Amino acid sequence: EKDTLILAIESSCDETAASVVKNGRCVLSNIISSQIAIHTLYGGVVPEIASRKHIEKINQVVEAALKEADVTLDDIDAIGVTYGPGLVGALLVGVAEAKAIAYAKKKPLVGVHHIEGHVSANYIEHPDLEPPFLCEIISGGHTHLVIVKDYGSFEILGRTRDDAAGEAFDKVARAIGLGYPGGPKIDKLAKEGNPHAIDFPRAHMEDAPYDFSFSGVKSAVLNHLNKCRMTGEPIVEADIAASFQQAVVDVLVDNAIRAAKDYHMDRLAIAGGVASNGALRAAMEAACEKEGIRFYRPSPIFCTDNAAMIGVAAYYEYRKGTRHGWDLNAVPNLKL
Ligand code: KG4
Ligand code: ZN
Repeated sequence: EKDTLILAIESSCDETAASVVKNGRCVLSNIISSQIAIHTLYGGVVPEIASRKHIEKINQVVEAALKEADVTLDDIDAIGVTYGPGLVGALLVGVAEAKAIAYAKKKPLVGVHHIEGHVSANYIEHPDLEPPFLCEIISGGHTHLVIVKDYGSFEILGRTRDDAAGEAFDKVARAIGLGYPGGPKIDKLAKEGNPHAIDFPRAHMEDAPYDFSFSGVKSAVLNHLNKCRMTGEPIVEADIAASFQQAVVDVLVDNAIRAAKDYHMDRLAIAGGVASNGALRAAMEAACEKEGIRFYRPSPIFCTDNAAMIGVAAYYEYRKGTRHGWDLNAVPNLKL
């Protein structure tokens, strides 16, 4: 049977990315042009700058993805693109690029939900993984606990009430002077700290047992810093990083394992930028092993934003018959 090649484009936040994926699981190229260097100057993603940088890079990134995969646009079966959720101006660049290529080359256009992309990152390196399974998606914009019922079909068990987990990492990192993006920096600094030095709160919602809330732990860090400044108690950044990280990891592991047991799921996957966190990966792996649950996680490069995961999701949507028209638009708050 003939191979199916997807050219995928991702531009929802601050990475301009393109990838060619063969038969849904084989990544032929994965090009990521990061804008982190410029946003770091402002302490976070500046939407206007993100859009402009995407426009500057998108053609080069697509060309590089085709070249690395050693294919031309004529070989491609469909164009996949993230159309939401994300920054509207950033998303629009990828959507316009995908539509232009699809129109010019008369190829099918397949819009992809960014979170479906994150979940699909798990298929790249785990050929045995197929729905149904439980997945915790933990990124800068989202924290969701879902049952993946089928490719592209989700039952949402829980979500964050306020900040996303990655957002909390970024805000705490900024508060202790680590800069943007905070997740990887806290991950690194926490290795030198004591995770039990400070007892930060672990939020549990009585009425919604799989929901998350991370604004409380973030505020507790800010309060701790203020208290230290007022009393002259030394501020030990490594201990704060390690203790904060431990509080977040405990909640992420606890909710996921409880859901797996309650719903009799024997496979658990994690996805999204925070899924590359070393402490989380180790804690989740240990908890899964203890409970006899099979644990899946993408390599860090497929956890943070990339187009390969969008290509995988687009492949399964394409096979289901999903096609979008020339009226496909960016949807910044697209629902799962
Ligand atoms: O999935 P992603 O690249 O973009 C979104 O869809 O939001 O996730 C980015 C988020 C940021 O908040 C970043 O600080 C966090 O993931 N992150 C991490 C780590 N690497 C990235 N958080 C904790 N530990 C890490 N190693
Ligand atoms: Zn993402």
